[in-house]
Amino acid sequence: MLISGGGSNLRALLEACRDAEYPAHVVAVGADRAADGLAHAEEFGIPSFTVPFSSFDSREAWGDELLAAVQQWQPDLVVLSGLMRLLPPRVVDALAPRLINTHPAYLPEFPGAHGVRDALAAGAAQTGASVIVVDTGVDTGPILAQERVAVLPDDTEHSLHERIKPVERRLLIDVVRGIADGSIELGTASTP
Ligand code: GAR
Repeated sequence: MLISGGGSNLRALLEACRDAEYPAHVVAVGADRAADGLAHAEEFGIPSFTVPFSSFDSREAWGDELLAAVQQWQPDLVVLSGLMRLLPPRVVDALAPRLINTHPAYLPEFPGAHGVRDALAAGAAQTGASVIVVDTGVDTGPILAQERVAVLPDDTEHSLHERIKPVERRLLIDVVRGIADGSIELGTASTP
């Protein structure tokens, strides 16, 4: 799992994995910065690594290092769980289709880094949460699961995001379960 922030989705998946019946487990957590969410990995005894975006001259150089760090773990699936960086195309090509992303909007509505803010700014009556396969576009890959969340009249970006996140967590846990038990097919392209 790759994160940038607080890692609430990461934590939810780590908790789901405690259930012996859950068919997946997290092998490692990576981040592009000193993310607060790495503390969840430590608490659950999961190895973690950081490949700081700011330490590289180019997105491509950062991506190559991140890819090498990810591939050391030979994961069956890579989950972008609040990783707030676009992966360079060659990283996507190396990992897809076993590369998924959670997004706090009902894609294709409100893609990008500010999905919650953009939904509010547009005056949308409802937004949502999505889990998608990552492709080389910005939140344009095939949708694996999504669900609507109402926008309330007094919502702020924070309050709306806090209502979306539990939906995201549920979708992510269901999608990872489905991929692990084979009920969700991602295709047969390269595995990391
Ligand atoms: C989540 O809502 C995730 O969907 C979003 O960042 C949040 C991370 O929360 N990702 C994006 O907006 C990607 N475009 P978390 O660190 O608490 O899991």
